Amino acid sequence: MSSVTFRPVSTVAGTIPVPADKSITHRALLLGLLSDRPVVVENPLCSEDTEATLAAVRAMGAQVEGALADGRVVIGGCGLRGLTPQPVIDCMNAGTLMRLAAGILAGQPAGELTVLDGDDSLRRRPMTRVADPLSAMGASVIPADGGTPPLAVRPGGPLRGMTHVLPIASAQVKSAVLLAGLNATGETWVQEPVPSRDHTERMLRAAGVDVMERDGMVGLTGPVARLSLPDLRVPGDFSSAAFAIVAGVLLGDPDVCVTGVNLNPHRTGLLGVLRRMGADVVVEPGPDVAGEPCGRIIARRRGVLQATEVTADEVPSMVDELPLVGLLGALAAGTTVVSGAGELRVKESDRIRSVVELLVAVGADAEEREDGFVVRGRPSIPGGEVHSHGDHRLAMLGALAGLASGSGVTVHGMEAVAVSYPGFVADLELLGAVAG
Ligand code: S3P
Repeated sequence: MSSVTFRPVSTVAGTIPVPADKSITHRALLLGLLSDRPVVVENPLCSEDTEATLAAVRAMGAQVEGALADGRVVIGGCGLRGLTPQPVIDCMNAGTLMRLAAGILAGQPAGELTVLDGDDSLRRRPMTRVADPLSAMGASVIPADGGTPPLAVRPGGPLRGMTHVLPIASAQVKSAVLLAGLNATGETWVQEPVPSRDHTERMLRAAGVDVMERDGMVGLTGPVARLSLPDLRVPGDFSSAAFAIVAGVLLGDPDVCVTGVNLNPHRTGLLGVLRRMGADVVVEPGPDVAGEPCGRIIARRRGVLQATEVTADEVPSMVDELPLVGLLGALAAGTTVVSGAGELRVKESDRIRSVVELLVAVGADAEEREDGFVVRGRPSIPGGEVHSHGDHRLAMLGALAGLASGSGVTVHGMEAVAVSYPGFVADLELLGAVAG
């Protein structure tokens, strides 16, 4: 386990191009697998999560040229119904891979069983939420006792199209169901309480699928004859950029700029929260990339932040950024409350418990709630020692807390950043962080 100490700094400044989007990279590789033409994916994210997806895509029959580390891969797919059956696929830490792969496998022509497995963290995450809708469509998708991985998928294609009302907004579950719908007969619809990120819908449309919207639902009619995904370039990941943006808000002088960032409105909820808190954040939209709005964001320190409340409606558009709201709240004037965020308990760690533990360990005044947390702001946080719990976003949160602290923060388990942002420490150093 690697331990890194992040020293306090008085300012951070500079410009960084953030790493490619994790969600979009997973989808580009998986839809490439289902495509009937070779797809060139430029600027894919090179990280542990996306390496797991590339390995899975290869195992399911894709011809892969190049490597994620080269910044370009070509995926020669097998078409919508031509995957090679695999007894076991290791999804490592990648929940997106496991849930989307379940949807893809469920709709393959009836045949061999595939077991989707993962690391200890993934083995604690709920899979009934995908198993139930996919089974209702006619596949057999069975998690272990407790509803967690390993997940045994026996394809049942052609499946039956149907309407699914999701109790919790989830892009992973929505995507699994829509991908299964490609190989289902009739219409497959998904309704969510609040719309989640729509990268799958955008990419399916680009691949020629008529993705419909009606009464707040999203759907498609199957069986779809073929997918023809055009070559694409993956834009930068807002969730990775968010760490640099928050560093800029807390310490940016003159400013921190992140370039090439995906600005999909279902991802950028944090920007609204930052504005409410009085932060100085400027968004400069640029041309679309891969059918996604993109641009650059400039953040600088301006006076004392004000506490805010984040409620259920905002959660899906900033679900991975809520840990950062905890740190912002710890240094804001007043009491910051996050509620309606029970989903955080089933992420890579129980992110309600782990965020509150981290904040308390660095000297903040934070408390758990069943579905969120409460943080009473202070003028400063002293610092301390924290653990990532193997959760990449926790490791990055600890690092930022160190920069903004009085005496520094040591993060144990810093290697977890490799899941989504292997160059995180180097990028933070470019902005002026001192780590060692
Ligand atoms: C993701 C969706 C989100 C997010 C995860 C990636 C995706 O999960 O937390 O990091 O790529 O679809 P849910 O939408 O399932 O909550």
